Amino acid sequence: MITLTLYLVASVLIILALRGLSSPVSSRQGNYFGMIGMAVAVLTTLLINHSYVYLLISISILFGASIGLVVAKKVEMTKMPELVALMHSFVGLAAMLIAFASIFNFDNEHSTVQRVELFLGSFIGAITFTASLVAFGKLSGKFASKTIVFRGQHVLNLILFISMVFFGATYFINESTTAFLLMNVFALVLGITLIVPIGGADMPVVVSMLNSYSGWAAAGIGFTLNNSVLIIAGACVGSSGAILSYIMCKSMNRSIISVLLGGFGSEANEAQHSDSDKNHKTGSPTDVAYLMTSSESIIIIPGYGLAVARAQHALQELTNKLVDMGIKVRYAIHPVAGRMPGHMNVLLAEADVPYDQVFEMDDINNDFTETDLVFVIGANDVVNPAAKIPGSSIYGMPILEAQKAKTIIVNKRTMGVGYAGLDNDLFYDNKTMMLLGDAKESVEELIKAVDDL
Ligand code: TAP
Repeated sequence: MITLTLYLVASVLIILALRGLSSPVSSRQGNYFGMIGMAVAVLTTLLINHSYVYLLISISILFGASIGLVVAKKVEMTKMPELVALMHSFVGLAAMLIAFASIFNFDNEHSTVQRVELFLGSFIGAITFTASLVAFGKLSGKFASKTIVFRGQHVLNLILFISMVFFGATYFINESTTAFLLMNVFALVLGITLIVPIGGADMPVVVSMLNSYSGWAAAGIGFTLNNSVLIIAGACVGSSGAILSYIMCKSMNRSIISVLLGGFGSEANEAQHSDSDKNHKTGSPTDVAYLMTSSESIIIIPGYGLAVARAQHALQELTNKLVDMGIKVRYAIHPVAGRMPGHMNVLLAEADVPYDQVFEMDDINNDFTETDLVFVIGANDVVNPAAKIPGSSIYGMPILEAQKAKTIIVNKRTMGVGYAGLDNDLFYDNKTMMLLGDAKESVEELIKAVDDL
């Protein structure tokens, strides 16, 4: 009874954590709820175990927690998505290994329902494991992030899927361990073939989908272990990941069915690179400072480069100066700016940017026409008009309509391409002035230039 009550407390805390994480204002509190909930769940699980496993569990926790602590302390914000993808792969692997332990413990009798749970938990775990490893490789640059397509890709996936289900059903009927092993081999390969066709710009949706898969794998294994908190926490992660994927698909104008089948992005063109024939204008910090201080309204569009340069504090110092001069300054946030959902919101919150200066894409996209100056800082794909051109690999992805502003300033280091590997015509627009350089250094020079005017 006491165990059930403690598991209920842990489950409620985990649900409260998810609720808290739905807004930047309550996210810190949400994290605390999550940490306490997990601590209660782990301690309760320890309490119900026999004493002889304590040593084994303690060593595992110590080992895992030490690695986790070192990695979490060292990881940069820009590397979070790849770390998250790697974590998902661990959840998938754990689900698969627990299913194996249960299958190969020949003292265990598995009822019909348990065989279905083992089948589901194990194959979802296996797909999550390899798919997350490929996602990790793509996000960390270890594999090319571009779309890899080959003839017969969808047929191959279908054959792999049917083979996996066939061997899963064989295991279900006669409890053949060989069939169970083969089912997992097909699932592991399927995890790879589902993710390789997906290009860089679509990786955010994949990461949140894998998050969902890892939750369902954990829930499936919760049934095997007869552990209610694992079932609840797994289901929470699974469903919230699925909802997030749906929201991201909507905001990126992608079909959720294509994501599930690993097919989207496969029609994409190869990466296009900068066309050296096109002309662009460059300006100095003084030129940009002059344009900014002569504007009445400015919209700032931050992107991945802002995060890399850690320029958010300097940028807010500049914003404060402009606001003090009576200029209306707002930030426009694209749902996939940076390398993970909410990346830009977190960075701006770190620099104490007031929430009323920060606008989501849909709330500000109509205002660009009336805006004197847009300052694109370290962003590229999220303002790329190629998203409106059929055949482009980002076709259909909504963009921040920077091209509609009266003057456009773009700060980045080079004329190179963004994450999706596409050239950006905005940089060659007649209204655009490039401020080439590192985001932080450029903004610091801008602050000086504004002071000197
Ligand atoms: P990107 O398209 O990646 O563009 C960032 C730009 O920042 C680059 O073109 C780069 O140009 C510039 N940059 C890099 N370091 C810089 C520095 N130190 N100072 C100034 N500029 C710097 O970023 P975005 O516009 O934010 O778009 C995000 C892209 O990533 C989307 O395609 C999205 O789908 C994808 N993605 C998103 C997520 C999530 S969940 N949001 C996850 C994975 C991938 P230079 O090298 O020339 O400086």
